[in-house]
Amino acid sequence: MKNFDVVFDRKGSTKWVKYSGTDILPMWIADMDFKAPDSVSNFLKVCADSGDFGYTDAPDELREVIVTQLKKKYDWSVEGSEVVFLPGVVAGLNTVCRGLVSLDESIITATPIYPPFLKAPENCGRKLTKIDMELTSEGYQYPLTALRDSINSKSRLLLLCNPFNPIGRVLTFKELQEIVRLCLDNQLLVCSDEIHSDLLFDDRAHIPLAKIDSRIEDNLITLISPGKTYNIAGIGGGIAIIKNQILREKFLAVSDGVGDIGLFSYAAMLSAYRDCESWHRQLIDYLQENRDYCKSRVEEIPGIKMNKVEATYLAWLDVRDLRLDDALSFFERAGVGLSDGREFGGKGFMRLNFGCPRTTLEEGWDRIARAVDKYVDNRHYTG
Ligand SMILES: Cc1ncc(COP(=O)(O)O)c(C=O)c1O
Repeated sequence: MKNFDVVFDRKGSTKWVKYSGTDILPMWIADMDFKAPDSVSNFLKVCADSGDFGYTDAPDELREVIVTQLKKKYDWSVEGSEVVFLPGVVAGLNTVCRGLVSLDESIITATPIYPPFLKAPENCGRKLTKIDMELTSEGYQYPLTALRDSINSKSRLLLLCNPFNPIGRVLTFKELQEIVRLCLDNQLLVCSDEIHSDLLFDDRAHIPLAKIDSRIEDNLITLISPGKTYNIAGIGGGIAIIKNQILREKFLAVSDGVGDIGLFSYAAMLSAYRDCESWHRQLIDYLQENRDYCKSRVEEIPGIKMNKVEATYLAWLDVRDLRLDDALSFFERAGVGLSDGREFGGKGFMRLNFGCPRTTLEEGWDRIARAVDKYVDNRHYTG
């Protein structure tokens, strides 16, 4: 039995609490039903045993590990001083919107998108312009024409998600190049959320936006975190890479006094990035098989299509052909708790989290298949 096959009790987690007391399988929020790597747990135990829980600064070793990995993975040269620690990536999105965009300026993002991208501008009263991802027979494409057309004299910031939650796309070099060109031409800042950059399938390689053109680095905030990949989101912790000193100082000024990070977050991030290479390789193999399994199940179910998942452990299901009044409730009645596409700006779509043991995934798909079968039969019957 593989490590990732083990079903373990997560009843206290946000994901499972939502459906406690029911028979609904939670396949919604983006954490995985796998134990975090033993190396991380063991390192946290060592920290706990020390009994030293006083205030702590970011460990130098953590900065060094991050800088070294960015160089090794992407040939991206970052100084330790350009690495800013955050309570989480969503905190970073909010800080950027609040601190780097003034009240009369606006923010652009492409939808469907991870809901905090929609919420962060709203939280601080900044205007958000939404452009629709283009859904073609080849899957989703970044809407470059719409981006160009949406930029005006008030536009200040593009919020970018790559790899793209919820649609699972890894933007191509060409797409990124065009995005960068438009942002440079129009002096737009970019906040590039690359939290899923260690969850790529089929031997794809992540390209940080910073590597497209060095000129963009002056206008760029890149957000990363080990939270998704090593399943430690509940411990908290995120990283912003900000090369431009003025931007960095503005960013720090907004988070000053409200965004301190605890020593367990630092420790977990350090151990995740430093000690878990082989766990990570095995995870990718397992998730890729789960992704393929989802695809094979979708092919047998009428009325559901699945966007090609190039990264993340999230499948974006197109259920528009089922013509459901309330897709979330339909699937809950089927016994599966999915994320409602409407929260992402994607009506008629549902997001399914396949970061779980295979048996759980099989059970989830069995339930979906049974419910859709019955529904389609009834619909034919009632005409
Ligand atoms: C694109 C993206 N950004 C950020 C987050 C959450 O980051 P954090 O938990 O560090 O705030 C998620 C979680 O699913 C995500 O998908």
